[in-house]
Amino acid sequence: MVSSGKFVYLQTFGCQMNVHDSEKMLTILAENDYRPTDDIHRADIILLNTCSVRAKPEHKVYSALGRLKKLKEKNHHLVIGVGGCVAQQEGKRLLDRIGHLDLVFGTHNLHRLPELIGDVQSSRKPKCAVEFYDEVKSLDILSAPSCGEAVKSYVTIMQGCDNFCSFCIVPYVRGSQKSRHSESILGEIKALTKRGVREIILLGQNVNSYGQDLSGGLTFSELLTHINEIEGLWRIRFTTSHPKDISEELIMAFGKLENVCKHIHLPFQSGSDKILERMNRGYTRKQYMEKGEQLREVCPGIGITADVMVGFPGESEEDFHDTLDLIRKIQFDNLFSFKYSTRKGTRAAQFPDQIDESAKSRRLEVLQKLQRGITLERNQALEGSYEEILVEGVSKGTKGEMTGRTSSNKAVNFRGTPDLIGQLVKVRIEEGYANSLRGNII
Ligand code: SAH
Ligand code: SF4
Ligand code: F3S
Repeated sequence: MVSSGKFVYLQTFGCQMNVHDSEKMLTILAENDYRPTDDIHRADIILLNTCSVRAKPEHKVYSALGRLKKLKEKNHHLVIGVGGCVAQQEGKRLLDRIGHLDLVFGTHNLHRLPELIGDVQSSRKPKCAVEFYDEVKSLDILSAPSCGEAVKSYVTIMQGCDNFCSFCIVPYVRGSQKSRHSESILGEIKALTKRGVREIILLGQNVNSYGQDLSGGLTFSELLTHINEIEGLWRIRFTTSHPKDISEELIMAFGKLENVCKHIHLPFQSGSDKILERMNRGYTRKQYMEKGEQLREVCPGIGITADVMVGFPGESEEDFHDTLDLIRKIQFDNLFSFKYSTRKGTRAAQFPDQIDESAKSRRLEVLQKLQRGITLERNQALEGSYEEILVEGVSKGTKGEMTGRTSSNKAVNFRGTPDLIGQLVKVRIEEGYANSLRGNII
C-alpha cells in the first residue's frame, strides 16, 4: 500500500489510447490516496506516459526527464516513473541511462502501478516492469468519464496490433492484439451512461479486427450493434479503423445503426501502390478509394479523416504526387500528416533508400497546404446547413460561447449558456473556418 494524502503529477505524450491510459493511472492512484496536481513542485510522484511512434515525441521524453533531475536532488523521497511506449521499448536501459529515474512500467503493467510505487518507496531501489501478459489486466481498469466535461468518454476495446506495417513500432511496444471481453466493454459503457456520459469513443489500434483473437466473441460490427442498444447513450465513435479490415458489415453499420456517428478515421498512409506494398499495408490505392466511395454512398455527409506520411523510404516525386492525387480525389475533411521517422527495430529502418529531411519537409508543406484548402472548402460548404450538436463545454475562444461537435466530428462554436452542456441542440451553421464552424442555435 502507498501512503495517504499525496500528489501525483502526470504528463502524457501520446495518442488517445495513451491519454486514456493516463486517466486509468490517475483512477487507480486515486484509490490509493494520490490526488492529481498541476504543480510539479508539489508532487510526491511524477509520471511520464510516453510515446515512441516517431522520433519527436520520444525526444521530448528525454528532455522532460532531464529537467526533473534538479527536483529529485532537492527531494529524495520523490518517485519519478516512466510508463507507456518508450518505457516498453527501452525497459531497464532507461534506468541505466537516467540515474534519477525510479520506475519503468510498460504498456501491460498499468494495473500494478500502486504496488510498484510502494515497492520503490519501501526498498528505495529502482524497479522495472515491462512483461507482456496473455490477459491484459489494464484493459479492464475503469476510469472516470474522460473528456468534454464528462459528456463523452474513451472506452478501450482492445490493445496491441498484429499487422506489422513496416514503419511502425506499435506492435513491438503494445504487443500482439488483445481484445477485451464484450461483457466488460458493455458493462463499462452502461455504467458511464448512468453517470451522464452521452458519447463514447471506442479505442484500439485497429478496431475493425476486434474479437478476432477471442474465440466465440463478437465481431466489431456485432459489438457496435449491442452498444447501439444501450439506453441513454446517444453517440458512438471509434478509432482507429484499418482500410484492409473494414468489412461490408461495418460500412453498412454507418447507415443502419442510428447512434454510430457519421465519421470515420481511416488512415491511408500513401496514395502510391508501390509504397503501400513496401509499407505492408495490405490494400491498394484503388481498394482504399472504393471503400471511401462506399462509405459516402451508404452514409451521405460522413466525415472522413485519415493519417498520411511523406518521405517513406523509396518515395519518389511520382509516388508523392499519387498521394496528393488521392487527397484531391477523396476530399478528406481533415488529415493528420507526418514525416516518416525511422524507428529502430522496424523493417523499414533497414530499407536502403531513405529520403533526406529537406525533401520530407518540402513534401509535408505541399501536402498540408493542399489539405488546408480542402478542409476550409468543406467547412464553408456547410454554411447555411442545420447540424445537430452535442454540447461539450464552454468554448475556449470567444466569451459567452459554447462548443460541441457535429456527428461528422466538426467542432462548432455558438452563443449559449453552460446549462446546455450534455444536450443535443440544433444549430444553423453560419461560417466555416479552417479548424471549426460557427453557428446559431435555433
Ligand atoms: N493503427 C493505426 C495507426 C497508429 S499510429 C493505423 O494503422 O492506421 C498513428 C499514425 O502515426 C499512423 O497512422 C502513421 O501515419 C503515423 N506513424 C506511425 N509510425 C510512423 C513513423 N515511423 N513515422 C511517421 N509516422 C508514423
Ligand atoms: Fe502500426 Fe500498422 Fe498496427 Fe497501425 S496497423 S498500429 S500502423 S502496425
Ligand atoms: Fe505512441 Fe504508443 Fe500511441 S507509440 S501513438 S503512445 S500506441
